[in-house]
Amino acid sequence: MRKKIVAGNWKMNKTASDAESLVRALREELANFREADVVLCPPFTDLATVSRLIQGTHLDLGAQNMHYEKSGAFTGEISADMLRDLYCHYVILGHSERRQYFHEDDALVNRKVKAALASSLRPIVCVGETLEERDAGRVEEVVSTQVKGSLAGLSGKELLDTIVAYEPVWAIGTGRTATSDQAEDVHALIRKTLAEMASEAVAQGVRIQYGGSVKPGNAKELFSMPDIDGGLIGGASLDAHSFAEIVRAAAR
Ligand code: 13P
Repeated sequence: MRKKIVAGNWKMNKTASDAESLVRALREELANFREADVVLCPPFTDLATVSRLIQGTHLDLGAQNMHYEKSGAFTGEISADMLRDLYCHYVILGHSERRQYFHEDDALVNRKVKAALASSLRPIVCVGETLEERDAGRVEEVVSTQVKGSLAGLSGKELLDTIVAYEPVWAIGTGRTATSDQAEDVHALIRKTLAEMASEAVAQGVRIQYGGSVKPGNAKELFSMPDIDGGLIGGASLDAHSFAEIVRAAAR
């Protein structure tokens, strides 16, 4: 049985003092919640603050990006070991905003995924089609290519440490969420792709999140689908009560 995992991707929002009030509120909201893994992914500048505030709680920490090299002359970049040093256990990689605005492709995402795993960070690897690709009937081709390319060369154990996030680009920040059936279809396709890459047993163990306009009102239905193992939440993760409601929707 896969444990559900809900992560909040704060994107480029919240100063460290904003982060402090949000995390304090979340600690109260989710004090007794143990039924799913909960990961906060603030911007780099908030990681140390959030890390300190979640000590001794069941909340976990993730980053939104990293570089694939261990160290060196890469101005403005952050390494996996720097994240580990702040007690980060997860890192979002290949988010569609990074693919779109920073030209990250599957080969680059794959290098980052391998570097993350080598430093014992669990990558949350994002895939998803644009509206144009969906309208052209290319969902299966686009998503399976992203999964195969981003996760190429991983062992079964490494795949099991990886989380895949299906985020249809047209549903991100638009208020237009995929229906639970639309999302389930693609999650099942991702699991089939993982089975081809590794084995049925590995595919059954990998957690696949849905992301794209998840709100308190639609989370329960999405999370009740057989292949949807939680969510990657953008806008609604910036508000403690909304995020906590979504997290609670992941309880069995
Ligand atoms: P929204 O929840 O704001 O649509 O963002 C989804 C997302 O991109 C999470 O990574």
